[in-house]
Amino acid sequence: MAETGTDPPLLSVEGLHSYYGRAHILSGVSLSVARGEVVVLLGRNGAGKTTTLKCIMGLVRPAEGRIRFQDEDIAGAAPYAVCRAGLAYVPEDRRIFTELTVMENLEVGRQKPRAGAPEWTPDRLFALFPNLAEMRNRLGGRMSGGEQQMLTIARSLMGNPSAILLDEPSEGLAPVIVEQMAQTVRELKAEGLTVILSEQNLHFANHVSDRAYIIEKGQIRYEGTMAALAADEDVRAAYLTV
Ligand SMILES: Nc1ncnc2c1ncn2[C@@H]1O[C@H](COP(=O)(O)OP(=O)(O)OP(=O)(O)O)[C@@H](O)[C@H]1O
Ligand SMILES: [Mg+2]
Repeated sequence: MAETGTDPPLLSVEGLHSYYGRAHILSGVSLSVARGEVVVLLGRNGAGKTTTLKCIMGLVRPAEGRIRFQDEDIAGAAPYAVCRAGLAYVPEDRRIFTELTVMENLEVGRQKPRAGAPEWTPDRLFALFPNLAEMRNRLGGRMSGGEQQMLTIARSLMGNPSAILLDEPSEGLAPVIVEQMAQTVRELKAEGLTVILSEQNLHFANHVSDRAYIIEKGQIRYEGTMAALAADEDVRAAYLTV
């Protein structure tokens, strides 16, 4: 578990409100993540997980609230500026360049090394994702969904982020690929990367996360360690099981 003691959080979100048109989607979301932690945002379909991540990335403009990343106030900042500040985002739908090879997809994501963040090269990423190493000259469009998901994460890592946001990384993957994904997240944590993920899959979340927040109808209803959540059947029944 990461040190949360006296260090300021790497990422903190306070009182976030967000709308799509007139629909009030996020109603005062607050959360904080320490450097090196793996934190999961759990919640059912439509709870507000993706909207929270998009607000952090500047893809959805919050109506109200503070978002601090390292020493910067990033609420309302443009996505490219948030990215440059050291936050990477892997959306729910895989976004690779289908007409580019694996290697070329990685080159598209390359940014300068960043102080205090792990530094990635294609070779280091191929060690982390051995199946990508075997297809480095293959076109992105000729890969399976799971392989594309891995490539999307690998390409984001080429930007040498301090933290990565993964939106439902296990969704739609076969069980054996889900297990590989879990292993990847654990290795990223071991490298010192901070990981914030959204999930509906409690099983996957349990295998990779230190701490969880549960969101429902745009509000945080629970915060605790994975062990505390595992012991709290009432909370799981209220907010997680279908
Ligand atoms: N672009 C949009 N325009 C209008 N409403 C939206 C838009 N995107 C999402 N919503 C609505 O906002 C609410 C929260 O959606 P969000 O995508 O954040 O949920 P989620 O927790 O990520 O769900 P899922 O697990 O299905 O991905 C839902 O009621 C959804 O219908
Ligand atoms: Mg979502």
